[in-house]
Amino acid sequence: MANTTSKKILNIAVIAGDGIGKEVTPEAQAALVKAAGDEVEFKFTDYDLGAERYLRDGTLLTDEDLASIGEKDAILLGAVGDPRVKSGILERGLLIKLRFAFDQAINLRPSKLYPGVKSPLADPGEIDFAVVREGTEGLYSGMGGYIRRGTDQAVATETSMNTAFGVERAVRYAFDLARKRGGKKHVTMVNKTNVLVYAGGLWLDIMDKVAAEYPDVTWDYLHADACTIFLVTNPSRFDVIVTDNLFGDILTDEAGAVVGGIGYSASANINVTNEHPSMFEPIHGSAPDIAGKGIANPSAAILSAAMLLRHFGYDAAAGRIESAVEADAKENSSRKRSTHEVGTDILARL
Ligand code: IPM
Ligand code: MG
Repeated sequence: MANTTSKKILNIAVIAGDGIGKEVTPEAQAALVKAAGDEVEFKFTDYDLGAERYLRDGTLLTDEDLASIGEKDAILLGAVGDPRVKSGILERGLLIKLRFAFDQAINLRPSKLYPGVKSPLADPGEIDFAVVREGTEGLYSGMGGYIRRGTDQAVATETSMNTAFGVERAVRYAFDLARKRGGKKHVTMVNKTNVLVYAGGLWLDIMDKVAAEYPDVTWDYLHADACTIFLVTNPSRFDVIVTDNLFGDILTDEAGAVVGGIGYSASANINVTNEHPSMFEPIHGSAPDIAGKGIANPSAAILSAAMLLRHFGYDAAAGRIESAVEADAKENSSRKRSTHEVGTDILARL
């Protein structure tokens, strides 16, 4: 028996959310406990947030919810989104609100092709890179307006906000990550500097400045459209990609597809100062088409749990989860199994 008195306590806010979020999140919780239960006592608090609650009483994420979640050490999120709720309401009012309220500036999204998992590419090669997506700025900033709505003179603006502070913190994170990963030690900045001359210009200036402090890390620049090509023609060239919020959103869906589907794509929304909780979530959505059937692959949610452990320095436990998912994928990825079967198979390897 481990000495329980010396166990560190981690208070985790659990937002299973909508659709398959409710099905995959319990598997991620079980993986946390199984992988790190000797070292950590997990105290889970469930939050009833998402479409059901919104449809029931019209509330999304109240100040009380935010205050309560803000006291936790981390957030484990399943998925939000429901066809019964108008697009944008849950996304803006819940998911993006959480990312912004807790200043989760780094949206870290690794992509790895596990042996045994089928990539849609004929000759994928080795794929192992991470996207550092800026998480609190860009076109997600919410700056803009829609006036004269419903008239022929309607005007809508959506402004991309890029601050030197925000860009630098993403860029620094990317260079540090390239060092830490110890692989190619290469950062690729992705933007669209041939058109977005102001925002792209700021990003490039900051890349130049920060790169000078990392002589051991190489870097290059790609336009976002060219990057979509290389992600399918030569994904092995990438190590760390750093980009803004919207390009990062789009590229990480493509990256997920290239490594065999977003069933294996995890993500972390990191508050770099640890002043607020970071949030760990699979990249996939609530998948209303298969929700309730118990057939969603919980691997991405389980890998998100591993990212949570790594965030708190439990690297060995995180590595055990990653190895277990990798071994499970290698042996079983083509078999039809239920969500809970996959979770159980992965846990059995821990
Ligand atoms: C993601 C999702 C979200 C985003 C949506 C649901 C708001 O696509 O996490 O990638 O755009 O960030
Ligand atoms: Mg997305």
